[in-house]
Amino acid sequence: MRAWLLGFIFLLVQNASAVPFESQKFAISAPSPWAVKAAETTYKKGGNVVDMAVASALTLAVTSPYYAALGGGGFALVKIKNNVEALDFREMAPSASNPDYFLEKEKGATETGGAAVATPGVPAGLVALHKKYGKLKWNQLFETALFLAQKGFPVSGEWSSVTRKTENRFSASGKKYFMNKEKHFAPGDTFKQPALAKAITLLRDKGAAGFYEGPIAQDLVASVKKAKGEMTLADLKKYKVRWLKPLQMSYAGYTIHMMPPPSSGGVITMSALKLFDYGKLQEVTPQSSDEYHFIAEILKRSFRGRSLLGDPDFSKNPIELLTSETYLRQQLKEISASKAIDVEPVDLNSFESGETTHFSIMAENGDAVSFTVTLNGYYGSAVVSDKYGIALNNEMDDFNTRPGEANQFGLIQGDANKVEPGKRPLSSMSPTIVELDGKTELVIGAPGGPRIISAVIQVLYRFLITKMDIDSAIQAPRVHHQTQPNKLYVDPQRLQSDTRNALTAKGHVLEESPIAKVYGVARHPSGWLQASFDSRGEGAAGGL
Ligand code: DON
Repeated sequence: MRAWLLGFIFLLVQNASAVPFESQKFAISAPSPWAVKAAETTYKKGGNVVDMAVASALTLAVTSPYYAALGGGGFALVKIKNNVEALDFREMAPSASNPDYFLEKEKGATETGGAAVATPGVPAGLVALHKKYGKLKWNQLFETALFLAQKGFPVSGEWSSVTRKTENRFSASGKKYFMNKEKHFAPGDTFKQPALAKAITLLRDKGAAGFYEGPIAQDLVASVKKAKGEMTLADLKKYKVRWLKPLQMSYAGYTIHMMPPPSSGGVITMSALKLFDYGKLQEVTPQSSDEYHFIAEILKRSFRGRSLLGDPDFSKNPIELLTSETYLRQQLKEISASKAIDVEPVDLNSFESGETTHFSIMAENGDAVSFTVTLNGYYGSAVVSDKYGIALNNEMDDFNTRPGEANQFGLIQGDANKVEPGKRPLSSMSPTIVELDGKTELVIGAPGGPRIISAVIQVLYRFLITKMDIDSAIQAPRVHHQTQPNKLYVDPQRLQSDTRNALTAKGHVLEESPIAKVYGVARHPSGWLQASFDSRGEGAAGGL
């Protein structure tokens, strides 16, 4: 391996940490050491948290294309000078789509191939973030991403296994770009992306127009068409991000800022935390089977209304009802301490699997970015653009694509989330920022479909109420319930067998399932910043 690459990796390894990484000026928790490196490089140039977030996201588009490629979308919660705003750069349904769009198509069409692709939002999201809050020049944010795309980087175990699993779904270009002459890259092999480097250079030099118009746009449209999709140049040109007002709640003296619809995350989190409070969960022994029982019963009831939610530009979301004290106290009355009680969903909701990622950044002055980005499934639709090697999402699968009919996981979504042109699908992504007396205390988020929400809820509870440090709160065993199906998903390795037995005895139907991975930065009472990532998967924490 060349000396420069070794030197680069050495710097990175110094920052990798599974216990809270501590620093003073800024801290980041991210899925990959390359994102940490990009943030540090940007900070040293004089960048603020938004500059760091943009540089880290660009870097992840290079190093973790299966969940962070430019062909995806996401949400960011941004706190700058005491003002918290939400940016929605989620993908939009192309103009050719409609509520019946998938009825005549084969079942897998929502997940693999061109029809699954919704108009990407990542490049527009990064431009919008930088335009509103960036301090450095736009072209100063590309150094790490371009370096790694051009010179290559050693692929991680996650990169290698996720890419291997996608082989049978990849378009011809997917195989061309992400396999090594029909063989797989193994961990440690160097992977270069000169074509993607050209696309990133166009984005650097021309801004959003460099992606949504011109040769990249033409490449995306032609590649989607070849894979039987209908996204057009006009869809790309029309793409717009939205700045939204975050949902906000007071909880145990803290102020929590959460993602509003089209995420279901904030609404469900607010319902669950209020139920924890009304039900006095803090009086139950932490991490006992009784505590997990109450958490499960509360999650079940908080997810009940998920399918009433959708894109706020298309339908009115009953947020006030779902988070009202009257409705929630009614839910609480149905909970028994001794046994699990089934509930009918207010409407049905979805199980999602696949790939998303998250990073959290906090600076000394409390400025913060909580950034979640996704392609939905591994490499999204598995359509990779022919000329630039850009992986494209399959976010259409987050819509209710076949009303009333179960998807491949045996589940159904609500009417408010049916496919409509220009609409954004309902999401579970939950970037979250917590303040105490105006000071930033915690920045968290996670990948993992609906498990994101239950993970964020449990880490908030462990950190804010049971007063665990950020690392212990993230690593603690978790459970997940989403009303439908009536199963209690448990952490495969972490939940003790006596706790499982006690939960089964109360009537819960347990199933082992991967639990979302949380990335968080907290302010320690000493004033230092602490960053921690979930040891359930790859990650890195760092800062200066
Ligand atoms: O927006 C959503 O809720 C999904 N597209 C997220 C998918 C996801 O988190 C998968 N990650 N592991």
